[in-house]
Amino acid sequence: MRFTAIILALAACVNAFTIVFENKCSYTVWPAVGKAPEGVPDRSVAWGARVDPGKSASFGVDDYALGIRAWGRTGCDANGANCATGACVGGLVCTDAGLQNNAIVSEYGYGDYGQWGGKRCSWNLSHVNLAINLNTKLSSSDGQSVLCRAGNCPVDQAFDVTDRYSAVRNSALGQTYTHTFCA
Ligand SMILES: *[C@@H]1O[C@H](CO)[C@@H](O)[C@H](O)[C@H]1NC(C)=O
Repeated sequence: MRFTAIILALAACVNAFTIVFENKCSYTVWPAVGKAPEGVPDRSVAWGARVDPGKSASFGVDDYALGIRAWGRTGCDANGANCATGACVGGLVCTDAGLQNNAIVSEYGYGDYGQWGGKRCSWNLSHVNLAINLNTKLSSSDGQSVLCRAGNCPVDQAFDVTDRYSAVRNSALGQTYTHTFCA
């Protein structure tokens, strides 16, 4: 029984990537994760948490998932609802993947690059039609990172329009991504 549990735990590890939310702000931030491949919300991936200054929280996502979006909410009420920025439909856990959140997002999606790299995770920061509500850094455990601050967000760091691909990054499956608020 114990042996089976260990095998299952290992299997879960090798098939997932992790998003760590690190709060460097002087105020509480409520991170959220949702899934909306092709812009259609899929509630099978939905998570939210409260992260006080200096703290962090993490969430695991299947390596083969598409359309994963993660962002930070500020000024929420005691239930993690009615946020001033980054608000979604739902409360602490969003039911709409935050598609109307008007907040910078980190995005992740599985891709098979075949002979050009095999199975990878494609990831980016994006503020296409969105406010940069939090200065945000996104780094992967393989050493790559991008940084977008309000007033200083170069186009090779975060998408500002959908077809400017200089902001795209990709990594091997199973990485840990650190999404830092107030970077
Ligand atoms: C960012 O990456 C995600 C996941 O790979 C992808 O779905 C999305 O289209 C990318 N963002 C932009 C603006 O292209």
